[in-house]
Amino acid sequence: MNLQTDRLLLRRWKDSDSPPFSAMNADPVVMRHFPKMLTSDESQALIEKIEKFFEKESFGLWAVELASNQNFIGFVGLWRPTFDAHFTPCVEIGWRLAKEFWGQGYAPEAAKKVLEDGFERIGLDEIVAMTALPNKNSMRVMEKIGMTYDPLDNFMHPSLVDGHHLKEHVLYRIQKSDWIECK
Ligand SMILES: CC(C)(COP(=O)(O)OP(=O)(O)OC[C@H]1O[C@@H](n2cnc3c(N)ncnc32)[C@H](O)[C@@H]1OP(=O)(O)O)[C@@H](O)C(=O)NCCC(=O)NCCS
Repeated sequence: MNLQTDRLLLRRWKDSDSPPFSAMNADPVVMRHFPKMLTSDESQALIEKIEKFFEKESFGLWAVELASNQNFIGFVGLWRPTFDAHFTPCVEIGWRLAKEFWGQGYAPEAAKKVLEDGFERIGLDEIVAMTALPNKNSMRVMEKIGMTYDPLDNFMHPSLVDGHHLKEHVLYRIQKSDWIECK
């Protein structure tokens, strides 16, 4: 299955996504709020991990392409974090786009469709989103899709060493009932 919006197709991954996905994950601007950039082998392994997740769960991080020209622009989708925190187990929504496609509302457009799929088809009651404290662009997307923030939900990401500048994370949430209201 695919998900579709006015401008975007959210689909399973293809071999041809690998070069632009690797380039995106090796771009220091895109990866500014992640602990490290990825090598092309790591990007390829990540595609395989995402596809395995789809096979198991029937949802995952969708490859996103422009409907107008089939350009691969990044991913938006759902994931299950594997670390322990006060809000886990949970399903999170996440996104990463190549920088030439930023600022056109593509991430919120895709994310709204992913929320709809999460609540209506998959039957989730709550979806969360998280990012490092300095990542204001990502927080803007969370706000645009109706997620809400409570400072009491801030947490220290367990995968990062103490003192790392990205260790403190924010958590945004949206419940199915709130999503129905702001639809
Ligand atoms: C976060 C991200 C997916 C947003 O995607 P997007 O499609 O550009 O989303 P929007 O168009 O709604 O823009 C969101 C905000 O990004 C900022 N922004 C937009 N274009 C920008 C650009 N070219 N350069 C810097 N910031 C920009 C703006 O503050 C914008 O908010 P506004 O619409 O209120 O002005 C994208 O910036 C990205 O891929 N970032 C790197 C990966 C990442 O950090 N992922 C999240 C990890 S949790």
